[in-house]
Amino acid sequence: MNKTVKKFAIVGMGNRGLGAFAKGILGFPNKGLPEFKKYAKLVAICEPNTVRLQVAQDELKQPDLAAYTDFDAMLKQADFDILVVATPDHTHVDIVVKAFNAGKNVICEKPLATRVEDCDRMIAAADANGRWLRAAQNARYGPQSLKLKSMIADGAIGNLKLVTFEEQLDTDHGADYFRRWHRDKKNSGGLLLHKASHHFDWLNWVIQGYISRVAAFGDTSFYLPREKRGKCCRTCDYTAECPFYYDLPGKWDGLYMRMYGQGEHEDGYIRDGCVFDPEINIEDRIAMIGEYDNGVKLNYTLSCFNPYESIKMVFIGDAGRIEVPGDKHIYYYPMHTREKHVIEILPGTGGHGGSDTAILKSIIMDFDALPNAPADGHQARHAVLVGAMANKAIAEKRIVTVDEFGGKPKLAAAPKA
Ligand SMILES: NC(=O)c1ccc[n+]([C@@H]2O[C@H](COP(=O)([O-])OP(=O)(O)OC[C@H]3O[C@@H](n4cnc5c(N)ncnc54)[C@H](O)[C@@H]3O)[C@@H](O)[C@H]2O)c1
Repeated sequence: MNKTVKKFAIVGMGNRGLGAFAKGILGFPNKGLPEFKKYAKLVAICEPNTVRLQVAQDELKQPDLAAYTDFDAMLKQADFDILVVATPDHTHVDIVVKAFNAGKNVICEKPLATRVEDCDRMIAAADANGRWLRAAQNARYGPQSLKLKSMIADGAIGNLKLVTFEEQLDTDHGADYFRRWHRDKKNSGGLLLHKASHHFDWLNWVIQGYISRVAAFGDTSFYLPREKRGKCCRTCDYTAECPFYYDLPGKWDGLYMRMYGQGEHEDGYIRDGCVFDPEINIEDRIAMIGEYDNGVKLNYTLSCFNPYESIKMVFIGDAGRIEVPGDKHIYYYPMHTREKHVIEILPGTGGHGGSDTAILKSIIMDFDALPNAPADGHQARHAVLVGAMANKAIAEKRIVTVDEFGGKPKLAAAPKA
């Protein structure tokens, strides 16, 4: 157990910075643990939008918390050890590199960056300054992920041969990527980076190899411009008939309206943008196949317009098969036995099935508390690499190899804090 009090600062006080990290570090119910207070102190927050900054201060109610609109000023003036980066994906790289050069350690939201070369810059800056870099790859932490990882690592199905992973988002969750900054590829890298990097990180960790070749297909097929549309839901003429109406004033007891709607005049950040806006340039359906250096084949699909949401998986080895049908069960079929073992998985509590709290716990209390210490820079880069290869495969309509991205990635084990 790490007994020193770690001093945190957070940059980006949107959904994740405020809701997952600030409230988590401070031990808010369902966000963090009460004992975090003994080991962690939130010293400073930074958010360029003054409305969101004020909402964060009001929500957190910490009289000693320093609040900044300027990141450089926070870096210079606030006394902290660990920076949490919860800004839009394309902004991570410059913030993280500055933080390392100022001698801080960094927890960065996923995806680590929107380009592989940006990940390399971040890792190089961490190394040059002798600091650590971790990414909030929370797909590793759910009870189901941990159980599957341990079954496969313990040889339940022998040598892993083939993996199928299907993520199908519904028209609520799935549509949300088409409402705001994510919908422009230059901000998010598209969903192969922004969304899939969670699962690529976890799959890389389970497959225990590195991605070597990728083929992929994807396009925008559903969230296409429609004649009946507006700029945003609050001012649209078609709200009564639109199944995608987003009730910003009604979200989270008005919190989102206070954070985003009332701050809109400062930076033009529209939270309830129309999902049929011509600005959208990310794919909403993707099919990808990948091959790892150890021969494992991965079949991955993602879509964003389903009546209901599901993640389904199949893992096939030379000694059996594991299926995740999309509910709270794992089915395990050992080879040659005709047996079917049903394993029930109870979700954890808190954000992302307890994963958000687990990430914070491992960082605040003990890096080794979990079998999967938070993804380090190389592992987070590997997740970005898979998505970047797939993006290139879609754009260039061909199979893309890892050699085009610098060759075999480092799969470094996470160093101690
Ligand atoms: N791990 C997860 O499960 C998970 C879930 C959702 C989002 N995310 C990631 O978290 C990050 C934040 O996402 P979000 O949904 O909270 O976004 P958000 O838009 O709600 O919040 C981002 C905040 O950063 C601020 N910001 C923008 N540019 C900035 C800059 N240069 N410096 C400082 N602040 C800046 C914005 O004003 C905004 O308040 C993204 O990288 C996203 O991909 C991770």
